[in-house]
Amino acid sequence: MKGILLAGGTGSRLYPLTKATSKQLLPVYDKPMVYYPLSVLMLAGIREILVISTPDSLPWLRGLLGDGSRLGLEITYAEQAEPRGIAEALLIGADHIGGEPCALILGDNIFHGAGFPAILREAQQTLDGCVLFGYPVSDPERYGVGEVDENGVLLSIEEKPLRPRSNNALTGLYFYDSEAVEIARDLAPSARGELEITDVNKHYLKNGRARLVRLSRGFTWLDAGTHDSLLAASQYVHVIEERQGIRVACVEEIALHMGYITAEECHAIGVEMKNSEYGQYLMQIAQ
Ligand code: DAU
Repeated sequence: MKGILLAGGTGSRLYPLTKATSKQLLPVYDKPMVYYPLSVLMLAGIREILVISTPDSLPWLRGLLGDGSRLGLEITYAEQAEPRGIAEALLIGADHIGGEPCALILGDNIFHGAGFPAILREAQQTLDGCVLFGYPVSDPERYGVGEVDENGVLLSIEEKPLRPRSNNALTGLYFYDSEAVEIARDLAPSARGELEITDVNKHYLKNGRARLVRLSRGFTWLDAGTHDSLLAASQYVHVIEERQGIRVACVEEIALHMGYITAEECHAIGVEMKNSEYGQYLMQIAQ
């Protein structure tokens, strides 16, 4: 399965923070925001990852992540000149996807919870059409919303409905079979001028091939698109890391656990950053 990490957009809701940098490089407590969605793709066992971003932001993201080899990944980059919609990522990434299934994740989405790797694995293994991930929120009107029946079967999908039919927000993580690119090719821009990922998902739903995995109460899903949600995400990560003494979305640690890099390689990255607690942590886990 191929991975796409969509890290573009203007970040205008975070101005002036994002006037001179990419939103996805802003800190979420102790690491850049992009580490969080990257860690999800890594936990899903996906190693070939296309990062899509704006012409301005691409060099910065490349400066951070390089070709991915230090994490045992193959990271490539592509430009989205204007934010023409999340579904455009499937078109920009068509060659990268190369007729395989793919996972698309938004660069400002943060997932954390026990058992997530198993959930990701199961979603991949049972993929027939698309798998969407739902999460109960208090403000569903801000998101894509999935309505399900009592058996959890998906009934409807709506983008930012005024009157949501459920509190199940659709998170920014999407697993698609090889048809997604063709579906995206047939989309027309919405009223706001974007190729909507919700329209791709509705197409799958219409053909009875969209499944919703509901992330449970004990799970955490955050987006970091506003000043308040960015602060909340940092506070969340800080509380967990301080209390447990572990790191959330530490991509080097995941690479080590997945067997993508050796303990020596992990230690060497830690040494490079030894003046930070993050670097010290890498040295410690490598031992
Ligand atoms: O976070 C989950 C939500 O993401 C879903 O529930 C919605 O169904 C989905 O439409 C999306 O809603 P948002 O309102 O959060 O989308 P936004 O336009 O803010 O874009 C989300 C991220 O994707 C943001 O970090 C910028 C990036 N992006 C967005 C667009 C439209 C791009 O890189 N390129 C784009 O063209």
